[in-house]
Amino acid sequence: MTEQGSSQAGNNLDPWYHHYADRAAGLRASEVRALFAVASRPEVVSLAGGMPYVAALPQNLVIDAMERVMRERGAAALQYGSGQGIPLLREQILDVMALEGIRANADDVVVTTGSQHALELVSKLFLDPGDVVLSEGPSYVTALVIFKSYQAEVEHVPMDENGLIPEALREHIARLKSAGKRIKFLYTIPSFHNPAGVTLSWERRLEVLEIARQNDILVLEDNPYGLLYFDRPAPDAMRSVEEDGVVYLGTFSKTLAPGFRVGWALAPHAIREKLVLANEAAVLSPSSFTQSVISEYLSTADWKGQINTFRDVYRERKNALVGALEEYLPELTWTNPNGGFYVWVTLPDELDSKAMLPRAVTELVAYTPGTAFFANGDGRRNMRLSFCYPTPDQIRLGVRRLATVIRDELDLLDTFAGTGSLHAPSADSRFGSPPPDAS
Ligand SMILES: Cc1ncc(COP(=O)(O)O)c(C=O)c1O
Repeated sequence: MTEQGSSQAGNNLDPWYHHYADRAAGLRASEVRALFAVASRPEVVSLAGGMPYVAALPQNLVIDAMERVMRERGAAALQYGSGQGIPLLREQILDVMALEGIRANADDVVVTTGSQHALELVSKLFLDPGDVVLSEGPSYVTALVIFKSYQAEVEHVPMDENGLIPEALREHIARLKSAGKRIKFLYTIPSFHNPAGVTLSWERRLEVLEIARQNDILVLEDNPYGLLYFDRPAPDAMRSVEEDGVVYLGTFSKTLAPGFRVGWALAPHAIREKLVLANEAAVLSPSSFTQSVISEYLSTADWKGQINTFRDVYRERKNALVGALEEYLPELTWTNPNGGFYVWVTLPDELDSKAMLPRAVTELVAYTPGTAFFANGDGRRNMRLSFCYPTPDQIRLGVRRLATVIRDELDLLDTFAGTGSLHAPSADSRFGSPPPDAS
């Protein structure tokens, strides 16, 4: 953003415009943010956000835990704490991770302010301008924002219904290496992907880890949704088979509540040391209070039963969404997740989900356009629909409205271009690939 030789006077909107560091250039409000402000009005069915349905968590469980914390160790809970997190909580986090096959030592766990902050810290430790981060295409939008803010280049590797495609990963790495690029890590969301909804198969997990090992590439495994499966658990975490080459991120945001802002990183010793120092530099210590409350909750409440409750809620909502898509928009294609919060929809070739969003919001339904999840402008034909927050009835209503919007949009295109009517998308099973007629 610094412009040598240009005026230092800023502009009408921001007098400090020319003073920002280059890395701040990546921090722009998305074009659809203003629309989302409208979309949060109660009459709009929002299939856009990723807010967990915290109303399914009995408030008494939290109130009781808070009360006990304050009565029994209030002074410590209100004090600064260790930059690595409360030791008891780090032990309890081992029990949570054990559910996905991970065996680890509490010394290697660093508690962070949500897993978002762990993503930030890992990026801070590893990324110099021009470095490459490999990630699935599409990928979690706010991770892309962080990578961009560290001036890294994101290289998307395609996925299909079984997650990241190992052969494509090999090709991308070979191409980048021969171009002299420095690949710093592979960022992956293997279970119930945000936004694609797919899960990396066990065979592919092993293959991806092997490729990473062969090419000396660290794997950043982000797993907020792994325990929120519907019918069968996801395969064990990648960290369960590879200790030295994986930094694993977990969070209580989806299995408890995001308002606590407590997540964690499990890292190989040397990286963990640096993560603790970076955590201290950024926040001194993660919140002692919310860590204490979560620790108390895990000690006294039926937390596994609560996760089952969340699974039941989200399963019903996913079924409502997929059922409504089948009923109202059978011509489209979409992923059918076995867990998590999201369905990834592919539109007919001629539609542009970002261009269509204002019309959808006018019709009182919102979604997230696919382009938000790519660093390279792909995803025009895609949208992410979230089923986590609206009720099943709202979801059905939202999809019905969406169907009207899509049909109207196609009719309009027909009228102006004389093209065909709604037709099935092309047979390319990869997500977010450009339409066949795109150059
Ligand atoms: C893939 C992924 N990673 C990280 C996060 C951040 O979660 P938190 O910071 O609440 O732990 C989210 C939140 O939606 C997510 O979907």
